[in-house]
Amino acid sequence: MTLSPDVVPWREAWQGALYGPQGFYRNPAGPAGHFTTSTHGVAGRVLAEALWAWADVLGADGIVDVGAGRGELLGALRAAAPGRPLTGVEVVARPTALLPDVEWLVSPGGARLPDDLAPVRALVIAHEWLDVVPCTVAAVGDDGGLREVCVDVRTGEESLGWPLDDADLDWCARFWPSATGADARPGDRAEVGRHRDAAWEDLIGRMSGGAAIAVDYGHRVAQRPGEGTLTAYRQGVQVAPVPDGSCDLTAHVAVDSLQQDELLTQREALRRVGVSGLTPEHTLAREDPAAYLSALGAASAATSLLDPGGFGTFWWVVSNTGRVHAGIP
Ligand SMILES: C[S@@+](CC[C@H](N)C(=O)[O-])C[C@H]1O[C@@H](n2cnc3c(N)ncnc32)[C@H](O)[C@@H]1O
Repeated sequence: MTLSPDVVPWREAWQGALYGPQGFYRNPAGPAGHFTTSTHGVAGRVLAEALWAWADVLGADGIVDVGAGRGELLGALRAAAPGRPLTGVEVVARPTALLPDVEWLVSPGGARLPDDLAPVRALVIAHEWLDVVPCTVAAVGDDGGLREVCVDVRTGEESLGWPLDDADLDWCARFWPSATGADARPGDRAEVGRHRDAAWEDLIGRMSGGAAIAVDYGHRVAQRPGEGTLTAYRQGVQVAPVPDGSCDLTAHVAVDSLQQDELLTQREALRRVGVSGLTPEHTLAREDPAAYLSALGAASAATSLLDPGGFGTFWWVVSNTGRVHAGIP
């Protein structure tokens, strides 16, 4: 099989498109220039308070934010808990607007982490990191076997490449069985989480206590999407995935293949630390109108984060490396 130099396996194209010298995530605007996540604005404030509550229960003094964007969540964490240790990890140099007491580590990107990220004794939060860690994309060929999907980096046109290697096949047999079993049909896809599992394991392996939480959209083995989830966003709009550096490339995470002590929905995780979305008492409106409005905004953001039809279905993958008992009721 001969491929044009522009046609490469998706995982390789994805890595170059997001983290190469002209990669999408090296753009000065950062992810917030293209899409909004729960780490921004008032939602970020609610999330930051919940994360400090989790940090306390898990026995972590500080927080390390892997995939820190341009420091949006770090800003909310600092405002919620002045003086506690904070570190951001990102593929770009330290943002100029970052508060001076926040540490910053520059990372290679994707599955690779900076050498100086160790030993970590903190709560590590990876909010929407793993969905942008490139993974092997596979599809069932006419012969019924899984093959790697290749892509033309100029156009996004796909073609089938070599049969999957044994390690990826073993991963699929265990974690994406619908693509390897008797019911698999030509064209069925699998997004092989093996390299994401390894990236997560690498992160946890650098820790000397504390805990790590990956927050992301994903699926479990019984509900793997046979058509795959790889897609792209540019300036807030979903577009066809072309790995040319002009758009974000993302695929949902196989959350149950990651090393973990607990797997929760965001709704469960936030409710455990008292996030309720309840509106403030009306008396506050008379006593302190500004505080009332602020609490009202936070309640509305909390409701959105808990929404069982929206952000509430995000997954929280918890790895309690310090084996501190999660004594949250
Ligand atoms: C989808 S954005 C999420 C940003 C932010 N956490 C949020 O939720 O708004 C993913 C971010 O992870 C960063 N990233 C990807 N791989 C990384 C790595 N190995 N180390 C540090 N940051 C990484 C990207 O550069 C990007 O800014």
